[in-house]
Amino acid sequence: MSAPSRPLAVGLLGHGTVGGAFAELLTTRATHVEAICGRCPEISGVLTRSQGDFDDILARSEVIVELIGGLEPARAYVLAALRAGRHVVTANKRLLCETGDELFVAARQAGVQLRFEAAVAGVVPVIRVLAESLAGADVERVHGIVNGTTNYVLTEMARSGVTYGEALAQAQRLGYAEADPSDDVNGRDAAAKMAILARLAFGTPVGLDSVRYEGIEHITPDDLEYARELGLGLKLLGTAERVDGGLSVRVYPAFLYAGHPLASVTGPFNAVTVESEAITEVTMSGPGAGGPQTASAVLGDLVSVVSPSASPAPAAGRPAEALQLVGDVESAFYLHLEVADEPGVLAQVAEILGMQGVSIKSVVQKGLGDEARLVMVMHPVLESRFFAACELIGRLGFVRAAPRPIRVIEEEFV
Ligand SMILES: NC(=O)c1ccc[n+]([C@@H]2O[C@H](COP(=O)([O-])OP(=O)(O)OC[C@H]3O[C@@H](n4cnc5c(N)ncnc54)[C@H](OP(=O)(O)O)[C@@H]3O)[C@@H](O)[C@H]2O)c1
Repeated sequence: MSAPSRPLAVGLLGHGTVGGAFAELLTTRATHVEAICGRCPEISGVLTRSQGDFDDILARSEVIVELIGGLEPARAYVLAALRAGRHVVTANKRLLCETGDELFVAARQAGVQLRFEAAVAGVVPVIRVLAESLAGADVERVHGIVNGTTNYVLTEMARSGVTYGEALAQAQRLGYAEADPSDDVNGRDAAAKMAILARLAFGTPVGLDSVRYEGIEHITPDDLEYARELGLGLKLLGTAERVDGGLSVRVYPAFLYAGHPLASVTGPFNAVTVESEAITEVTMSGPGAGGPQTASAVLGDLVSVVSPSASPAPAAGRPAEALQLVGDVESAFYLHLEVADEPGVLAQVAEILGMQGVSIKSVVQKGLGDEARLVMVMHPVLESRFFAACELIGRLGFVRAAPRPIRVIEEEFV
């Protein structure tokens, strides 16, 4: 009979929502992990604000699981662990997005793995799929619904006609939004995740400062009602795509036609669509957050790190292939205008749009006493030209409120 193998010592940094769930999952799934890796995992130490000593835990661990969150001290601990030759698993999007270059270099120099499946779209295995399954595909575009809070809020606004504030309060009551949801609703959280996906999909390091992002705070129930009339659904969408030999990474609220693979993703779910000529498109969806769900993705990374048939860890961008980041891109738009109900209004709006090369696809006009609403959908145009037209339209005397533009994703898949 062969001697039992020595346990796999896992140092756990952070024991909150995800850390606590991970510790529990590691215990309940220990036998299963042992069957795959040949080693039974064991927590060698836990670090929180009130317990544990990092150096002591590091000395007793083969793998470090970082579930503290934020930049410091997580960065210092992860860097120290990598440089000390320990594999690291983390769910920390901010850490990867803001200090990814430094961490990937440290991991490469030490010959260890840095894995981060849970940092983007929770349990949806998008990192693994991009890094491994689709490594042979020349990716053209990645679209993602990578923030569950905003998807829940927009779903509820569309479903029950509640305001943005009411839907957000509901999300907080149900635990889908944090007490301070600013980074979720202003698009910053999704931007950090899209930066990580762009790095993987296009081999190009992308920092948060290179991602243009907008949030959903300005969306009104009217926008959603008109969208329904036009057969559109609204999502906070992240896009990373090749544009004119460069790369554009952005986050913005967007209307989707019903046939789009992301249109049916509702509530707090996340989803990512990868498009490439060779594969057409692949869409993955699932829960984007939650302790047990995120812990499951973290445990998956731990198994990959130590299993004998371990797949390669996702690599950093290869600078030789780095694409230039592009600012201005073409988009189709929806435009909501509150105007005085008088003759010639539509003609003047159409003239300004025409001067900027914007072509109108459809118009809905509704009278509201002395005022009227114009809701238009435009064909794709350079964003800078469309926003220049909005600026001019906003200055017309009969326009009662700032024009409200929202992008429209035109593609449908069958
Ligand atoms: N929650 C989710 O659904 C979710 C989903 C995807 C990814 N993530 C990511 O997972 C990570 C953890 O999130 P979480 O929701 O589990 O956070 P959390 O509930 O706030 O837990 C954080 C843990 O880190 C510990 N900690 C904080 N500052 C520390 C410090 N200076 N030194 C040592 N320990 C410290 C806390 O200690 P105390 O116990 O002493 O306070 C707590 O145990 C984050 O990177 C987050 O972005 C979370």
